[in-house]
Amino acid sequence: MSLTLRSIELAVVGDDLTVELSSGRTVRFAHLDYAASAPAVRAAADAVRDLLPFYGSVHRGTGLRSQTSTLEYERARDTVAEFVGARPGDHVIFTRNTTDALNLLARSLPAGTTTVVFDGEHHANLLPWASPLRLASPATPDAAVEALDAALAGLEGPVLVAVTGASNVTGEIWPIRRLADVAHRHGARIVVDAAQLAPHVPVDLADLGADYLALSGHKLYAPFGAGVLAGRGDWLDAADPYLRGGGASAAVGDNPADVTWTTGPARHEGGTPNLLGAVTLGAVCAALLRADRAALHEHEQSLLAALGGGVTLFGGLAPRVGIASFAVPEPAVVAERLAKDYGIGVRAGQFCAHPLVRRLTGAGGDCATTGLLRASFGLGSTTEDVDRLVTALDELGLSGV
Ligand code: ALA
Repeated sequence: MSLTLRSIELAVVGDDLTVELSSGRTVRFAHLDYAASAPAVRAAADAVRDLLPFYGSVHRGTGLRSQTSTLEYERARDTVAEFVGARPGDHVIFTRNTTDALNLLARSLPAGTTTVVFDGEHHANLLPWASPLRLASPATPDAAVEALDAALAGLEGPVLVAVTGASNVTGEIWPIRRLADVAHRHGARIVVDAAQLAPHVPVDLADLGADYLALSGHKLYAPFGAGVLAGRGDWLDAADPYLRGGGASAAVGDNPADVTWTTGPARHEGGTPNLLGAVTLGAVCAALLRADRAALHEHEQSLLAALGGGVTLFGGLAPRVGIASFAVPEPAVVAERLAKDYGIGVRAGQFCAHPLVRRLTGAGGDCATTGLLRASFGLGSTTEDVDRLVTALDELGLSGV
């Protein structure tokens, strides 16, 4: 890997954690659950350390603390805007996470908007939309493009297509540019759930052809409770404020109906914002903009290849990020054994994508006991982490499943 990628600012906080195994032996903890929550990197931790002495109110004071906090909050917004390739007229709104960002967009749609989703989406991008047109989860990128084209053909009025950038189950990267072109040809808009894409590859609204993009800080090495909705300002400025209150309002009269709401990001960021969440997210985005992301992608591909040498991974018809799921009997029990006997953290179950996992496994049922096993990685992940998982599965008699 390049020196840039191994830079101190992208070093993982806690990458030397150790854990005692059931045998009594102590080993370095192998975290292979980045898709759920990625660890913090130094840039995020340093940003907290540097800002805390100045912590104060955002947009609400003239003193040093407030002025510094406001400056850093807005600087974070500018950095995130650069990270997602925001265009003139786009808003970058801080939210709690991707779920929150997509719920905000769902509440901002013009009356009568039809939403279109594939049913393989994470619940964050499946459930916010009121009565969406649900398309069966496509088996290949080409099938996705064809299905969307056919579905949009008969629709009238405003239409929003909501798609994932990379699946949180299979890691497959969906053909966003092609789907966006289809959507735009039919006069529709498109939002990308980039929660699992942005940590792994560069995302750019213009390159993707996306109208909106949502992401989460806790998957992007900045686990301080912030997420982002970025994209076209017109619907957002016309919508009811997501959080009614101070900051969202420009003027409030004596009559309850006499409120002038502000426009821009503040319209949907009522109340005191999550300053540390925004600033840490901005700091990580800045560090990633400086990093050699091609080298990170390449490293993840070599880890995927090592994993794929030991187990059969679901998906793979599209290129994938560092996320892979595979079938084992009783995945929750296997995950427990991996943690206790091998010091490995993975996730088991249906990963908040029940329809997709049901389709992949052909089985329904309780998500605590059925589903898949998933390994996911990113900055700081090592070949030893993956080799340990492959060896453990072999020792548990699960290799090649
Ligand atoms: N969406 C997260 C995951 O896939 C929580 O694990």
